[in-house]
Amino acid sequence: MDTRIDLRVDGEQRSLTVDTRTTLLDALRERLGVTSPKKGCDHGQCGSCTVLLDGRRATTCLALAVAHTGSEITTAAGLSDGDDLHPVARAFLDHDGLQCGYCTPGQICSAVGMLDEAKAGWPSLVTEHAEDSAALDESELDDEEIRERMSGNLCRCGAYTNIVTAIREASNGGNR
Ligand code: FES
Ligand code: FES
Repeated sequence: MDTRIDLRVDGEQRSLTVDTRTTLLDALRERLGVTSPKKGCDHGQCGSCTVLLDGRRATTCLALAVAHTGSEITTAAGLSDGDDLHPVARAFLDHDGLQCGYCTPGQICSAVGMLDEAKAGWPSLVTEHAEDSAALDESELDDEEIRERMSGNLCRCGAYTNIVTAIREASNGGNR
């Protein structure tokens, strides 16, 4: 069955008709030509298809497009304004947080989402004193916190060390 949906993608209003079984990832990439989110596993296991969906990080290969009509979607490309890079994207470049770059858009969206989660006081599995949200200062995320909070994003190139460095710098830099 086909249905009409509306999405706001990187600030642009888009409308399309999709089969109700179409994933959000396929709607973006195959129908709208939005190729920043990447298809890695297509099973919710690698994180390369991550975008910010109404401000929260989400794996688009697991989302049905029809369930998100009216949603605001921000991809890694949409986080930056042309050559004016988002601080997290800038940190990835400055610290060589990418090799082939395939996982990078998902890593960047996930990092932006998780820094907002930490800023809101959401604990991770490794957070000490999780009952005390005041202990969750995203500017003090240590490497263990960053690794845990980013554990849904895999990198086949193994660029993890520099990814952690980039996110640590972005979390310390503020200016988001
Ligand atoms: S492509 Fe969506 S999680 Fe791997
Ligand atoms: S940089 Fe190649 S998969 Fe991560």
